[in-house]
Amino acid sequence: RPGAEEWVPAEGGLDELRVAAASCRGCELWRDATQVVFSRGRDTASMMLVGEQPGDREDVEGEPFVGPAGRVLADAVDAAGIPRDRVYVTNAVKHFRFERRGKRRIHEKPAVAHIVACHPWLEAEFEAVDPAVVVALGATAARAVLGRTVRIGQVRGRVLPPDPTAPPTALPAPTVVTTHPSALLRIDDAADREAAFARLVEDLRTAASVAW
Ligand code: URA
Ligand code: SF4
Repeated sequence: RPGAEEWVPAEGGLDELRVAAASCRGCELWRDATQVVFSRGRDTASMMLVGEQPGDREDVEGEPFVGPAGRVLADAVDAAGIPRDRVYVTNAVKHFRFERRGKRRIHEKPAVAHIVACHPWLEAEFEAVDPAVVVALGATAARAVLGRTVRIGQVRGRVLPPDPTAPPTALPAPTVVTTHPSALLRIDDAADREAAFARLVEDLRTAASVAW
């Protein structure tokens, strides 16, 4: 299988994965990115949060969810009453994909090929952490976690049990799909944004109810 597979160490835990991911060449995204952005959290976490890909800030800092979307996510995790040390945070794709416009770098959605190429890392993380529940933040994450394309509106907020008919790449854990926190940043109306935030918090609470 092409992609990250040959860079994923056969043995070891999260530390070994983090080190190895720095030299991954499983797709072309490493070329233009500053560095790999692997994950944050311990292998003892009970909830695995999966985002899309690192953004501009994450690419520079080498840490997931440290930019504006990360602030929204941290606020939502806090509001849901979830201790941050119980959460493992990662992304479906580990290098920043962007388009250069002058001096600006404009976020570009990862293609399915990138999600597939990067999937061995996600599988290895899942094995190392063995979370009780997985939360997919947005459509890209849902595609990576469930192994198929879903409509967020149709599945969001429910606990989806592991599906025996799912492709073998699906992560075998109860999963909650919700919106990506960056979607909230694009809502101009304050009341609408607040309502969307409340739903995100509610979805995280639903996931927490499975985990502990
Ligand atoms: N958005 C993501 O999906 N992941 C990050 O790490 C940051 C922003
Ligand atoms: Fe490897 Fe994933 Fe980076 Fe592609 S995006 S080079 S598969 S770590």
